[in-house]
Amino acid sequence: MRRLVCVSNRISLPRRGAAPGGLAVGVLAALQNTGGMWFGWSGETAEVPSAEPEVLVRGNVRFATIDLKPAEFDAYYNGYCNSTLWPLFHYFPDRFTHEEAQHDAYYAVNEQFARQLAKLLKPDDAVWIHDYQLIPLGRCLRQLNFHGPIGFFLHIPFPHRQVLRVLPSYAELVRDLCQYDLLGFQTDDDLRSFLSCVEQPEARLSGQKDLVETGGRSVRVGVYPIGVDVDAISAAAAAAVSQDKVQRMTASLLGRKLIIGVDRLDYSKGLTERFAAFEQFLESFPDNQGRVTFLQIAPLSRGDVNAYSEIRHALEASAGRLNGHFAEADWTPIRYLNRNYTHATLMGFLRAAQVALVTPVRDGMNLVAKEFVAAQDPDDPGVLILSPLAGAAPELTGALQVNPYDKRATALALQTALNMPLAERRARHEQMLGAVREHDIHNWYGRFVHDLTGEIIRRRPMEARDGGDVRDTVPQLMPRPKLLSAR
Ligand code: G6P
Repeated sequence: MRRLVCVSNRISLPRRGAAPGGLAVGVLAALQNTGGMWFGWSGETAEVPSAEPEVLVRGNVRFATIDLKPAEFDAYYNGYCNSTLWPLFHYFPDRFTHEEAQHDAYYAVNEQFARQLAKLLKPDDAVWIHDYQLIPLGRCLRQLNFHGPIGFFLHIPFPHRQVLRVLPSYAELVRDLCQYDLLGFQTDDDLRSFLSCVEQPEARLSGQKDLVETGGRSVRVGVYPIGVDVDAISAAAAAAVSQDKVQRMTASLLGRKLIIGVDRLDYSKGLTERFAAFEQFLESFPDNQGRVTFLQIAPLSRGDVNAYSEIRHALEASAGRLNGHFAEADWTPIRYLNRNYTHATLMGFLRAAQVALVTPVRDGMNLVAKEFVAAQDPDDPGVLILSPLAGAAPELTGALQVNPYDKRATALALQTALNMPLAERRARHEQMLGAVREHDIHNWYGRFVHDLTGEIIRRRPMEARDGGDVRDTVPQLMPRPKLLSAR
């Protein structure tokens, strides 16, 4: 069996207690099951980064990290990753900026990742690279003479060609994607958008629908919707109900119904639209005033990028305005928190809520939607209000689906959710739980690794998995090959 080596910009080793995002949760679940190595950025910058990756072993998982220099990190991460690729891939061309120095830093950091990772690779490893920060990495590894299978999974949406073409180095990016053996996307739409970027006849769909032939090589493509560990979440949520933090939160509601939102603070999450819709809800259905509390947890993220400080200020203003207008001496309509909680506490909060508002204006998948479903008590489940612009929407048809820009529809969905009879809540929850189980986290990595290596991963029982403690001579790079023509 090949060793699995996962690579992502951020890894899940960091600070104990922090709730990792969907990517980190998914990769950790895969590695705890298969064993292997996780390589990524340490989360630290240093003027003189250490010459070798730092390696730490936890159970059957090796965590290998590298530091980046502050200036290169700024240009790579705040610049190209999160001011160029992120907005474009999420269909926000107006938030997109492009600077050549940042473009160069992105490619230089990917080459650095490759050089450092190559020191740790064995010839029969299988490498699985994650997300938009590391698109060129597969090609860089090939240039360093790594010949094992290399797969890439994109956690965020893949934009249609008409949007991606805004990027000056559009062809370079598509060409790099075509260097992988396996390319995975969250949804059918993402895969179709990728295919729209691959030019005929130089690249074409072969007789088999999941093979793209391009530049004399075949790239396998597929849809692998990421999921959650349903049993683990359900057990954690049920147990968290007796946790002190969760009990104090529920006691503080004084019997009021709870609407919850949990999102990294990002303009793609639709938070300003959500606050406006909640305001409309209180105005259109005034009986709810004093009877419903909206808890929005939004940990800060990417604070050095302008668009993120702007959205932060906008949300502070809007929460303040709304509370100033509607609050009573004994009731605050929105509790808006920028802090983070442990995963267990969050699952307890989700279970305690009658309604979850998951209304991104664009999202690759959105695991909070799936976590909410898994965290519910099936006998008395809450209702999910979900944006059709989240990757999870095609699977979760039992949700009340509303366009996040439609304040009236969102307000009405809130009123409907809060008054939904038990039988309908159960029926909707049953559909969603079935879907969340069908595409759970084990299915996600099991299918991807199988398609990459031909090997079947046997699922280890939860108690047998280790690595859980994580909560708490290189060849020169060759010149880049000639650009593939991509339209
Ligand atoms: C999204 C991205 C991940 C990223 C995470 C947290 O889920 O798909 O690649 O790691 O957000 O963002 P950050 O910039 O803090 O790593």
